[in-house]
Amino acid sequence: MTTITVQVDQPGPAINPAMWGVFFEDINFGADGGLYAELVKNRSFEFPDAMMGWFKISPSKARGTIEVHTDRPFNAANPHYLRITSEGHDLFGVANEGFRGMGVREGESYRFSAQIRLAAGDPKLRIALYGSDGTLLDSVCISGFSPDWRKYSAVLRPCSTDPRAKLYVLLENAGALDIDMVSLFPEKTWKNRPGGLRADLVQMLADLRPGFLRFPGGCIVEGSELDKRYQWKNTIGPVEERKLLINRWNYEFIHRPTPDYYQSFGLGFFEFFQLCEDIGAEPLPIINCGMACQFNSGELVPIDQLDPYIQDALDLIEFANGPTTSTWGAKRAALGHPKPFNLRMLGIGNEQWGPQYIERYARFADAIKTRYPEIQLVAAAGPEPADSRFQFAWEKLRELKADIIDEHCYAKPEWFFNNVHRYDSYDRNGPKVFMGEYAAQSDKVVSVKNRNNLECALAEAAYMIGMERNADVVCMAAYAPLFAHADAWQWRPNLIWCDNLRVFGTPSYYVQQLFSINRGNRLLPVNLELLSETRSGQRFFASATRDDASGELILKVVNGDDAPVTAMLNLAGAKEVTGKPKLILLAGAKPSDENSFDEPKRVAPQTSVLSIDSPHFTHTFPAFSFCVLRIGVR
Ligand code: AHR
Repeated sequence: MTTITVQVDQPGPAINPAMWGVFFEDINFGADGGLYAELVKNRSFEFPDAMMGWFKISPSKARGTIEVHTDRPFNAANPHYLRITSEGHDLFGVANEGFRGMGVREGESYRFSAQIRLAAGDPKLRIALYGSDGTLLDSVCISGFSPDWRKYSAVLRPCSTDPRAKLYVLLENAGALDIDMVSLFPEKTWKNRPGGLRADLVQMLADLRPGFLRFPGGCIVEGSELDKRYQWKNTIGPVEERKLLINRWNYEFIHRPTPDYYQSFGLGFFEFFQLCEDIGAEPLPIINCGMACQFNSGELVPIDQLDPYIQDALDLIEFANGPTTSTWGAKRAALGHPKPFNLRMLGIGNEQWGPQYIERYARFADAIKTRYPEIQLVAAAGPEPADSRFQFAWEKLRELKADIIDEHCYAKPEWFFNNVHRYDSYDRNGPKVFMGEYAAQSDKVVSVKNRNNLECALAEAAYMIGMERNADVVCMAAYAPLFAHADAWQWRPNLIWCDNLRVFGTPSYYVQQLFSINRGNRLLPVNLELLSETRSGQRFFASATRDDASGELILKVVNGDDAPVTAMLNLAGAKEVTGKPKLILLAGAKPSDENSFDEPKRVAPQTSVLSIDSPHFTHTFPAFSFCVLRIGVR
């Protein structure tokens, strides 16, 4: 019989409390159209096609003009605004289509706001929400406009729920208004913060209990060219001053073009730090290292011009941690957070490779370590887990005594099953490993056919078992990407899928969650003896940890095969089992099983009591399953 022996009395290395985390990037409408709860797309008319997302509403009797102007703008950073002029024979104006529609719920409140300036006459403004079938959901009238820019707001309460509502902004009588920063926000956001984040999506993150949050990317940090890189300083302060930038996922994939994908930065660096604090995750910001994406232009900042980039990194640390008397600490305090955000890690570049990266990394590391020796730096090792770029990076970064190296891997499930022992032979005295991006691909990388199925989730669980068993070398790991909007994605698979009103976790989501909430504090040695006649390549793996708080042993077992495995379990060193042992099972009928909006919990953890009364017992692990056993032992 297969046996699993856990040395309960021989606790090994401590497990990093921040071991299992999440990686957020604005891809697949992850921020604008996703986590950032703004419902109006192109709210400040700054898209290159200033009317993208907007269309004219002009009933037959109506006469008027719609023009985009830039003179005497509301805000110089986002200078375009809309002038609506009406002759007043009927309602006349514009409507916004939202991000593939606007998701609104019956009875909930939605705050409309806009910067408005009177240009002529004394017009009244009708703000209306219409459902996808043309039903009026609610409307409100605003009047009494000033000849100076002023913010006006009103609350709409839709009479029914609609995933694809539209917002109408219409002049009721003759006159002209200048309009900018047109916004519609649910009042129910995460923590009910005005202009905040989608509560249901943040809840999904909170439920993962992530140890860290890596942000804001990903390739988005690098930019396809340097002028499109992510610059954190442009993402803090009043939202209207955050200069819009094209999202690189707008045009990256010819097979998935998303011409309306831009970054408003409403979810900016302050909000990222705040989110980390809210969900108890260590912040791990990634900063551009003076290199544009090497899959695109690969543009390089000359070494003698790197200082402003390094200064951005130093200022970011001061923004997060500095006293309120420091320049950037004062800005954090002015934004409402005098207490430091306790930043302890910083990533230098995303997926860079080659001597150009090493040279630049070394400059950043010198400057940052001189000023902030306590900050752990995360270095890149390219986009693949084993190619020559990866080998080169590791060799050089080892010489530079890098703290943590960020490995990435998107590969077939087989790769993950076959690499469970990858870290067994890693040098225990070198840099630590951060598996910063990984996901099993049922088809191949960047294929639109990739599915978030059970087999992929089990492959990831098996690999996570390998990481857990090597927790003295692997200090952190995160699945990628995190979010995808079902109507606006560029990349699949993803951990969490949403549309304008709904959200569901994939089988991979539940794997991440099970590891995170069953992390344990110390590794326990596990010896697995597989039944001798089992076929080679058997997908059966186990790891164990101890949870100091509850005194429980946590055993994780993946059976990725199509037959159940009955195993003898020996909890060596334990005299007796205490309390009510628990079994948490993630399983499905077949490897292709998936979750969906209609069946969000088809593959989801089921908890039951494990009826055992001794530290030696047999248990059958079902086919295609991931099991977590929590057993109190003495
Ligand atoms: O996760 C999607 C992309 O994959 C990330 O932006 C990048 O780092 C990797 O290539």
